Amino acid sequence: MAKLGTIGRSGLLRKPNESMRLVMTTVVGVVFGFFIGISFPTVSITKLHFPSSIISYIEDRNSGVTTQALLNHAWTSAKNQRANSSGLDSSDSLKIYVPTNPKGAERLPPGIVVSESDFYQRRLWGDPSEDLPFKQKYLVTFTVGYDQKNNINAAVQKFSENFTILLFHYDGRTSEWDEFEWSKRAIHVSVRKQTKWWYAKRFLHPDIVAPYDYIFIWDEDLGVEHFNAEEYIKLVKKHGLEISQPGLEPNRGLTWQMTKRRGDREVHKETEERPGWCSDPHLPPCAAFVEIMATVFSRDAWRCVWHMIQNDLVHGWGLDFALRRCVEPAHEKIGVVDSQWIVHQVVPSLGNQGKAENGKAPWEGVRERCRKEWGMFQTRMADAEKAYYKKMGITPPNTTVV
Ligand SMILES: *[C@@H]1O[C@H](CO)[C@@H](O)[C@H](O)[C@H]1NC(C)=O
Ligand SMILES: *[C@@H]1O[C@H](CO)[C@@H](O)[C@H](O)[C@H]1NC(C)=O
Ligand SMILES: *[C@@H]1O[C@H](CO)[C@@H](O)[C@H](O)[C@H]1NC(C)=O
Repeated sequence: MAKLGTIGRSGLLRKPNESMRLVMTTVVGVVFGFFIGISFPTVSITKLHFPSSIISYIEDRNSGVTTQALLNHAWTSAKNQRANSSGLDSSDSLKIYVPTNPKGAERLPPGIVVSESDFYQRRLWGDPSEDLPFKQKYLVTFTVGYDQKNNINAAVQKFSENFTILLFHYDGRTSEWDEFEWSKRAIHVSVRKQTKWWYAKRFLHPDIVAPYDYIFIWDEDLGVEHFNAEEYIKLVKKHGLEISQPGLEPNRGLTWQMTKRRGDREVHKETEERPGWCSDPHLPPCAAFVEIMATVFSRDAWRCVWHMIQNDLVHGWGLDFALRRCVEPAHEKIGVVDSQWIVHQVVPSLGNQGKAENGKAPWEGVRERCRKEWGMFQTRMADAEKAYYKKMGITPPNTTVV
């Protein structure tokens, strides 16, 4: 293999008659690879995996990848040759089709199918099985702008090493965060001017976040002085909460009774609202309800909620009222953790990402869109539900609280 690498590199680079040499080297490489394939059918490819075609070989020829690419190709060619010569692949009985594989992957032998992933960061060297001495069990994401760095830095301190930290940057400033030591082990995703739910839909697919028992999807403007994430998780487990949030310190821009912190208990799952606000004491906003600023999902709950997030309704308004559809019974599995609580600081960061239009301030346009989205989400949910009941020949229930 090393010899092949030498041939490949020395033959390919820095000479004027490059294309001719390339062809020659390719031929030599393929033939050589053929013999490797014949003589060592289990050629073990232990280095980095990179595209295997000659095209990528040409594109990457100045990097250290050349040997691998060439070898891959040679190996594949040799395999084809062998298969043809023994006449094996013409036999239908050897065609693989596994209906229980993930959709689209039915032709693969199940043993090679990896349908879930993670955010664990690996090394580029060594034995892959030794890359991860430790796998975090929880994930916390913050949607951030650099202006909130001190607040986020304080928040991150409240999450132990058992958390993978993922920042979604809406202002394009990512490298500046490296002033914090933890930033170097965090995952940074940078897309300008998008919302938390936009990122969540795109980067937190349930199959990607599958290893995490709990997923915190948080805003950037939360005061966490009285919060500890490990303690929080203990309580969530103890009380069987699949969807939860920390209690909110009363008196700062509160709208719902449900999310107010109670001073006298660990968690609560229901509340009284203003008269007439709750059609049913087990339904939002009196129960089965948390807000979307500091939501915590179990793995299973998130798998459902992710599917409910609409690609175009980026503000997520109305989602809080619909979370209950993802857990059963919702009034027991959705709740607020009182003894680990936070302060909502109401920083109008998102509004600043809007655009001044028709003489209106940016935040006004954003607010308007939020309201509009809420209505659209309710309509879609009601329509979807109606369509389902109709299809099943069931008379729909009278009231649908979205
Ligand atoms: C060998 O098999 C490959 C793929 O199965 C096919 O494309 C190719 O034409 C075959 N070659 C010969 C000589 O049969
Ligand atoms: C991290 O998780 C392990 C295993 O559950 C636990 O023993 C440890 O105490 C946790 N770390 C902290 C800081 O709580
Ligand atoms: C639903 O509507 C029907 C007729 O419109 C009415 O008889 C029934 O009482 C209603 N049920 C509830 C729970 O409101």
